[in-house]
Amino acid sequence: MSDSKTYAPSAETVARAHVDAAKYDEMYAASIKDPEAFWGEHGKRIDWIKPYTQVKDVSYDFGNVNINWYADGTLNVSANCIDRHLETRGDQTAIIWEPDNPEDDAQHITYKQLHAETCKMANVLKSLGVGKGDRVVLYLPMIPEAAYAMLACTRIGAIHSIVFAGFSPDALAARVSGCDAKVVITADGAPRGGRVTNLKDNVNQALINVMHDTHCLVVKRTGQQIAWRDDLDHWLHEAAEGVDADCPAVEMAAEDPLFILYTSGSTGQPKGVVHTTGGYIVYAALTHEITFDYHDGDVYWCTADVGWVTGHSYIVYGPLANGGITLMFEGVPTYPDASRFWQICEKHKVAQFYTAPTALRALMGQGNSFVEKADLSSLKLLGTVGEPINPEAWNWYYNVVGGGRCPIVDTWWQTETGGHLMTPLPGAHATKPGSAMKPFFGIKPLVLDPTSAEVIEGNGVEGVLVIADSWPGQMRTVWEDHERFEKTYFSDYKGYYFTGDGCRRDEDGDYWITGRVDDVINVSGHRMGTAEVESALVAHATVAEAAVVGYPHDIKGQGIYCYVTLMNGQEPSEELRKELRTWVRQEIGPIASPDLIQWAPGLPKTRSGKIMRRILRKIAEDDFGALGDTSTLADPSVVEDLIENRMNKS
Ligand code: WT7
Repeated sequence: MSDSKTYAPSAETVARAHVDAAKYDEMYAASIKDPEAFWGEHGKRIDWIKPYTQVKDVSYDFGNVNINWYADGTLNVSANCIDRHLETRGDQTAIIWEPDNPEDDAQHITYKQLHAETCKMANVLKSLGVGKGDRVVLYLPMIPEAAYAMLACTRIGAIHSIVFAGFSPDALAARVSGCDAKVVITADGAPRGGRVTNLKDNVNQALINVMHDTHCLVVKRTGQQIAWRDDLDHWLHEAAEGVDADCPAVEMAAEDPLFILYTSGSTGQPKGVVHTTGGYIVYAALTHEITFDYHDGDVYWCTADVGWVTGHSYIVYGPLANGGITLMFEGVPTYPDASRFWQICEKHKVAQFYTAPTALRALMGQGNSFVEKADLSSLKLLGTVGEPINPEAWNWYYNVVGGGRCPIVDTWWQTETGGHLMTPLPGAHATKPGSAMKPFFGIKPLVLDPTSAEVIEGNGVEGVLVIADSWPGQMRTVWEDHERFEKTYFSDYKGYYFTGDGCRRDEDGDYWITGRVDDVINVSGHRMGTAEVESALVAHATVAEAAVVGYPHDIKGQGIYCYVTLMNGQEPSEELRKELRTWVRQEIGPIASPDLIQWAPGLPKTRSGKIMRRILRKIAEDDFGALGDTSTLADPSVVEDLIENRMNKS
C-alpha cells in the first residue's frame, strides 16, 4: 500500500505549525530515548499545586501491572481548565454552544462565566453530600451544563462517570450501580434533530433498578412534564440559587481517579475504564495542541458527544486546559438538513473541525451542494476519529469540505488511551487516505505475529498492534477489577499493552489500522461488544441461542448481523424480528439495534461445542469462498443452511 497517493502539507500549514518534520523527528526520538526527561518537561504545561519530582513509575509485568505518572505531584484539573486562565483571558469565550434548533440563539460562555457556573454546580453537589472520591453519573444532552458538571466534579475531587444519553434505562442502571453513584445529573429532556428524548423518564426507570438511594440533579432544558421524586430530585436552577459562585478547587494527587467511562470489550459486561488526574490532563492538553495545531483564538470544534472519550479529551479537558475556544453542538449533522455542520463552521468561523467517518459517509451521500453553499474559508484543519476511514470518504473530506487546502489528521486511539496514539501531525507529515501514519511522542507501536507473539520488524508487514511502553494518558485500571484490567490488556502479549487492533506498517513505515482482532465491532464509530448484543438476545423468551458478528455497512462502517436460534416451538416471523430489534434497543440502546437477523436452525460449532465465529463472520461478509478450515465442524450441513438463507445487506 506504499503506492497510495500522498498529500504533503502546504507551505502555509507548515509555516503555522507548532511542529514541523524536523521537529517531530527530534522530539519523537527524544521521547523514546528518555521518556522521563521528555514527560518531565511536558508535564510543566500544567499548573501543579505541589510539583512532581517523580515522572514515570510503570510496570507492565502480568500479575503486577502498575502505572504511575507524576505520582508525588498534586493538582486540580478544574483549576487548570478554568482558574489559571481567568487573569489572562477571563472575558474570552471558553465554550460556544450551538443548540439543536438553528433558530435558537447560540451561547458564548466566557472563562469567567465558566468559573461561576462550575463553582455553583460544585457547591450544589457538595450540598448533596458529594465529596472527594465519590462517584457522580452524568446522563446529559450536549449542553453547557455537561461541561460544568464534569468540571464541578473534578473541582471537588468527585469521580464522574458519563453515560451517553442514547443508552437505555437498563444500561444506565448498570452503570449507576456499578460505581455506586451518589448523584445522577440529567436534564428533563434532550432535543436532538428536532425530536425530544425524555431523559428524566429514563433516569426514573433506571433508578427503580438501583438498590441504593440516588439523588438526581435535573437541568431544565425543555420545560416538559416530568415525573418527580420529591425526596431525591432537585432542579439545578433552584438548588443553585442560594449557593456561592466560588468554590475552592480541591488538591488532588496525580494518581487520584478523574473519571470512569464504561466501554465494551470482547467478553461480558462493559468495563469501567479508569483515568487518573495528572497524566491524563498532561496528555489530553499536549495532544490537543499538537495534533490539531491549535493556536490561541482558534475556534475548535469536535462533533463528538461528551458521553464518549472523544468528548472528554477533545471537547472539554484538552481544549480548556489549553485556554482554547471549544464548540459544543447539541444536534445532529442532518437537521434541519445536511448542511448543518457546514453552516455551523461558517457561522462560528471554525478553524479545526474533528468528526467521525460515519458522519462523513452519510453527508457525502447527500451530495456536494450542501457543503458548497457554506463559506468554509475559516477551516485550517480537518480531523477524523473512531474507525478506519475509507479512501472515498477521505477524498471527499479533503477536496469538497477542505477545498484541498486543509490537512486531515486521522487520529487512532481508544477509550483506554486517553488521547491520540497515532496520527499524522499537520505540519510534519504527508498524509495518505486511510492511514494513521505516525506514532505520537512517547508512543512505541510494535507489530506482533498473532500466533507466535514475536515482534515483526521491518516495513511492509502486518499483525496485531501492541504498544511497548506507557504514556501519561493511559488508563490505570478497570473500576474495582484490576485483575480484569491485567487480563484484558497485558496477558496475551506479555510485557506490552495490547490494543485489540490489527495493523499494517507499509513500505514507508507508516501505520494503517486494519480493525479489531477481537469480538468488538465498530458501528458508526461506536464500540460494541458482540457478547453484549448476544446476551440481550438470549434474554428474550423466544431465543435459545444467538451469535452476533459485524458485516461491512456503507454508512455505519460495520453493521450488526445476528444469527438467532429460536426455542423449540417458536415460529420465525417478520413480527418477531421487529420485536427482537425493539428488545435489544431497550436492553442496551438504539446504537445496538440489530441490522440483520437471520433465523438459524443451528450454529456452526466445533465438536467441543464452541461456536465458530470465523465462519459466521465470513457468511455475514458475503465471503463464502474464504470459509477456511471447516473440518472441525460437528455438523457441516448447518453451514450450508446458513449460506443459503443469508440475509441481504441493507
Ligand atoms: C477503537 C476504539 C478513541 C475515540 C473513539 C473510539 C477504532 C478509533 C480509529 C482510526 C481506525 C480507529 C479502533 C480502536 N478506531 N480511531 N482513526 N482509525 N480505527 O474510541 O470506542 O474506545 O474505540 O476504535 O478499532 O481500537 P473507542
